[in-house]
Amino acid sequence: MSKVSIIGVGAVGTSCAYCLAQKGLVNEIVLLDIKPGTAEGRALDMRQAAAIQRFDTNVKGVTNDYAATAGSNIVVITSGLSRKPGMSRSDLINANAAIVTHVVERVATYSPNAILLMVSNPLDVLCYCAHLVSHFPKNRVMGMSGLLDIARYKSFISEKLNVSTKDIHALILGGHGNTMVPMPRYTTIGGIPLRQWMDKKTIDEVIDRTRMGGDELINLLGTSAWHAAGAAICQMIEAIVCDQKRVFPVCAYLDGEYGLHDIFIGVPAVLGANGVEKVIELELDQEDSDRFYESEKVVRENVELLKQEMERL
Ligand code: LAC
Repeated sequence: MSKVSIIGVGAVGTSCAYCLAQKGLVNEIVLLDIKPGTAEGRALDMRQAAAIQRFDTNVKGVTNDYAATAGSNIVVITSGLSRKPGMSRSDLINANAAIVTHVVERVATYSPNAILLMVSNPLDVLCYCAHLVSHFPKNRVMGMSGLLDIARYKSFISEKLNVSTKDIHALILGGHGNTMVPMPRYTTIGGIPLRQWMDKKTIDEVIDRTRMGGDELINLLGTSAWHAAGAAICQMIEAIVCDQKRVFPVCAYLDGEYGLHDIFIGVPAVLGANGVEKVIELELDQEDSDRFYESEKVVRENVELLKQEMERL
């Protein structure tokens, strides 16, 4: 059985924790937040919900006490500012690089063998930051974004076609931003290619809405979304702690795959007990390839901004 710590229990951290606690996949969840009482309160509330929802997961909350996270198998990092209407994910680089550096230094000290699951935005850039600060091997640092983006894509397809999301299989590549690349060529519904269900115009509408999926929610809620993000993180944790070898879109470190080096970006990967066990290289047609490398360019520009910021820290 495993210990999972969640750093930052705003809406996403809380939603992930509750989803994980209910599944009973791990025996201990530690919630840590900087705001006094927040993590303790969230944990207390979940332990009380346990009596109704009938789960046994031990959920504990602490204020800034990293010693309580010691020996975690997985540490989820949601710390940082979240976007407000009108902000892009890149607008958060400076503030969140400082926060993530502080957090990862402590996490790496107390849980040197953990798998880091990054969630803070800008996601691809902060995975790179966590990798630099932790010195963990590439299989043990990853980010959650593709599962959330693909969940949005599936839900929009399901709405258009009036079919269950359960039967939709899809892939997405690229950074967690407006240049992400949902892939109709690798989308099937009940095994039937998407292009047999929808015309190009409708597919393009679904893709555009997926790319702006985070913004749509921010405009409605005034802050970024949490239920789908929490569920997506929980699904990645399940794949790791149960060594399921699931094939998910993951923000992973590339070391030659797709001809790219030294970058974290969304790609399909096999997730199991060792974290990112394999990055899968897809055949790309010209359009997908152009879009993917355009997205890579944006991520790299932001990584340069990150490096400048880290020199200042
Ligand atoms: C989103 C934010 C969390 O996509 O990046 O909802």
